[in-house]
Amino acid sequence: MSSPVSDDAFAAPFHLLPKAEGDWRKTYENPAIDISLVHNAFIRSLNTIVYWSRKVDSMSDKDKRDWFCYVELWAEALEHHHKLEESLIFPQLEEKLEKPQMASNVDAHRHILPGIEGLLSLTKQLINGEKQWNQRDFLALLDTWLPTLNEHFKEEVVTLSADNIRSVPERDVKEIFDKVTKHIQQTYSFDRDVPFVGTCLDRQAEPDFPPWPFFIVW
Ligand SMILES: [Fe+2]
Repeated sequence: MSSPVSDDAFAAPFHLLPKAEGDWRKTYENPAIDISLVHNAFIRSLNTIVYWSRKVDSMSDKDKRDWFCYVELWAEALEHHHKLEESLIFPQLEEKLEKPQMASNVDAHRHILPGIEGLLSLTKQLINGEKQWNQRDFLALLDTWLPTLNEHFKEEVVTLSADNIRSVPERDVKEIFDKVTKHIQQTYSFDRDVPFVGTCLDRQAEPDFPPWPFFIVW
């Protein structure tokens, strides 16, 4: 059976998600749009990881190390994204929703976590020279969990859709996502997170997202 990650036929195996429907400025429609764009940033960079993993053997030692750092940064950013959802977005929405519906997202994160931890551990070992690069092992590791992550990326957009969160009072939705923006502004590092996310997002899809100061956008 072919695998989306390790099959050579798939240079960029994961399809981008359609931007969630609606108006980014409308409180109920904003969360799903934001999350679909953020997930696309992860998918876009993930495809570059899969693509370039086939070329690592011919890289110089310096380029190899830089590339391992890039993969590590991707895994760290994904871990950070999930922690933010679990510590802030999911519990605060759940508290106000008429019918709880965030448990499936948290459950998916549980299944994905060992994959993130495995990738973080491997990249650290590759960076400090404790382990030698092996393309087959790397792709096999991705194969164990990236299809699950890809499904999760799609499903989470649905759980945060306007229809699903409409039972939460509008001012509460706004307050929760204002807190998210503040948290990101306070915790994102300027030398790692901002350039990574900034270059992987498609600002043409939503020119006002993320709402960063003009000097970062520039
Ligand atoms: Fe998630």
